Amino acid sequence: MALRVAKTLWQVKFGYLQVPVFPQSLCPFLFSYTEALSPSQATQPTLLRAIDIYLPTQTTKRAIETPTMPIYAITGANRGLGLEFTRQLSSTSSNTVLALTRSLSSDLTDLNALNKHSNIHILECDTGDVTSIKSFVKEAAKTLSGKKLDYLFNNAGINSVPEQGSLTIDPADLDEQIRVNVIGPAKTTEYLLEADLLSPNAVILNMTSGLGSNAVSKSIEPRKCATYSISKAALNMLTVHQSGDLRAKLPGCVVVCMDPGWVKTRMGGEGAVLEPEESIGGMLKTVHGLGKEDTGKFYTYTGKEVPW
Ligand SMILES: NC(=O)c1ccc[n+]([C@@H]2O[C@H](COP(=O)([O-])OP(=O)(O)OC[C@H]3O[C@@H](n4cnc5c(N)ncnc54)[C@H](OP(=O)(O)O)[C@@H]3O)[C@@H](O)[C@H]2O)c1
Repeated sequence: MALRVAKTLWQVKFGYLQVPVFPQSLCPFLFSYTEALSPSQATQPTLLRAIDIYLPTQTTKRAIETPTMPIYAITGANRGLGLEFTRQLSSTSSNTVLALTRSLSSDLTDLNALNKHSNIHILECDTGDVTSIKSFVKEAAKTLSGKKLDYLFNNAGINSVPEQGSLTIDPADLDEQIRVNVIGPAKTTEYLLEADLLSPNAVILNMTSGLGSNAVSKSIEPRKCATYSISKAALNMLTVHQSGDLRAKLPGCVVVCMDPGWVKTRMGGEGAVLEPEESIGGMLKTVHGLGKEDTGKFYTYTGKEVPW
C-alpha cells in the first residue's frame, strides 16, 4: 500500500518528463514508444505524460500451465526481436521453435547458428501475402506431424514511413502496413486454427507498440509515425476480437497484444534504450505468467497493462 501511494505521488510529481534524463529502471514504460523514429528524431527529447500511461502493477493470478515440451511459432524470426525470441526459447532443448522467415532466400546465418539443440525448424512465411501464409500452414502441419502449437508469436512487422504524418498519408503506405501488421497476424492465426494446429490452451501474442495505444499517442507531441501507429491500433482491436472469437473454438486460448519497449533492432535503431535480451526476457516472463482471465489485454514487456 505504502509503495503504491509513493508510486502515485512520484508519478504526479514527475508527470512531465524528458525521456533521456530519466532512469529506465525507474519507469521503463516511458521508453516504449519512440521505437519507430528516425535516428535524428530519436535523439530529440520527447515530452511524455507519465500520469496518463502508467497503470498499477497487475495482481497475482493463476498462470496457464506451460506444457513440458512446448511448441512455439514466431513470425519474422530471422532478425531483431524474432531472432531473440528464437535464441532464448531454443536454448532450452525441450522447446521446439518454428522460426518463420519472410523468405528462405534471406540471409539466415544468424538463425541457423542458434540451432544447437536441433529444435529450430525454419519455415517460409511472408505475412504480407496470404498465399504464403497458406503455404506455411501446410508446411507447419507436416513439421508438427500431429502435434499442435502451444504459442504463436505474431512478431513480424514494418514501420515503412515513420516520417509520414496524418495530414500526408499515402494510401499505398497505409495499405502496406495494414497488410503486414494487421492482416498478417489475422490470417496466420485464422489459417492455423482452420488447420487444427493450435492447441486448446494456445497463447497468441500479437506484437504491437506503445504507438498503437490511443492514450499513449495522445501524450506524444508532436505525434509520431501516423501510419504505423494506426496499423498497430488496428492490431490491438484485432486482439480484442480474436480473444472473443477464439474462446468459442479453443476454450483455454489466451490472446494478448504486447509492447516490447524501445529496443535496439533495425526498426528501433541504435538510439533505443533496451537490448533485445531484456525486452524478450520480460515478454517471455509475462507470456508464461498469463492466466485465462488475461485474454484480450494489452501489456508492456514488463508485464504492466497498457491503457488502450
Ligand atoms: N524495436 C522496437 O523498438 C519495437 C517497438 C515496438 C514494437 N516493435 C514491434 O516488434 C516487432 C519486431 O520488430 P523488430 O524491432 O524486431 O523489427 P526489425 O528489426 O525491423 O525486424 C522485423 C522482422 O519482421 C520481419 N518481417 C517484416 N515484414 C515481413 C513480412 N511481410 N513477412 C514476414 N516477415 C516480415 C522482418 O523480416 P525481413 O528480414 O525479411 O525483413 C524481420 O524479421 C514488430 O512488429 C514491431 O512493430 C518493435
